[in-house]
Amino acid sequence: MGVVALVPAAGRGERLGYGMPKALVPVDGVPLLVRAVRGLLASGRVRHVVIAAPPSDVDAVSTVTAPLAQAGGAVYVVAGGAERSDSVRLALTHALREIPDTSIVLVHDAARAFTPPSVVGAVVDAVAAGHPAVIPVLPVADTVKQVDSTGVVVATPDRAALRVVQTPQGFDARVLLRAHESGLHATDDAGLVERLGVPVVTVPGHPDAMKVTTKFDLAVAEALLAGSGG
Ligand code: C5P
Repeated sequence: MGVVALVPAAGRGERLGYGMPKALVPVDGVPLLVRAVRGLLASGRVRHVVIAAPPSDVDAVSTVTAPLAQAGGAVYVVAGGAERSDSVRLALTHALREIPDTSIVLVHDAARAFTPPSVVGAVVDAVAAGHPAVIPVLPVADTVKQVDSTGVVVATPDRAALRVVQTPQGFDARVLLRAHESGLHATDDAGLVERLGVPVVTVPGHPDAMKVTTKFDLAVAEALLAGSGG
């Protein structure tokens, strides 16, 4: 069973206002991307990692991530695309070409750098148990409204049936390829797979798997690290 993790890390991270790609922003001296890759490998399930980097930063990203490769595994860096889904597709194409026994693929945002390895393990185990698509989720704490284009509320979905979605999302490699070749659009990979009519199952996520998007999130990440001793 070959498990490959794709890490879209090609975002410019402008909302962080750091003047560098978000993936390279350090938290306590260690770039977000390095933390994300370490977490994937620490699960003990992932052997190979394919990172999609900003095209102008492929060399810089290779330099910081090459030392992370473990025995029998490799860390590849490819140039990402204009949208996150383009970056995932480019990384997936590379994985299927370069890593022959790829059967399970994870897609994990570099920005979710503090995802516990146990969440990674739970996602892989559920795919290995026969589920073609698996996502980690959390319950929703806030009431959520659906609004129209003018901001007027049109519906209040039942909160008990809602979940927020994290990464890594795990897939049978053939299913993810079919989803990316479909020409459909969605804001996450599981959304593409759903549109193919493939069932997507959930496993418990973790609050630490938050996505670092804003300066506030970065401050939360620093507090998390201080609380965990590093
Ligand atoms: O911008 P946002 O935080 O939603 O991006 C989610 C993830 O997708 C980040 O890790 C980001 O680097 C990545 N991404 C990418 N290629 C893009 C845009 C975003 O790999 N063109």
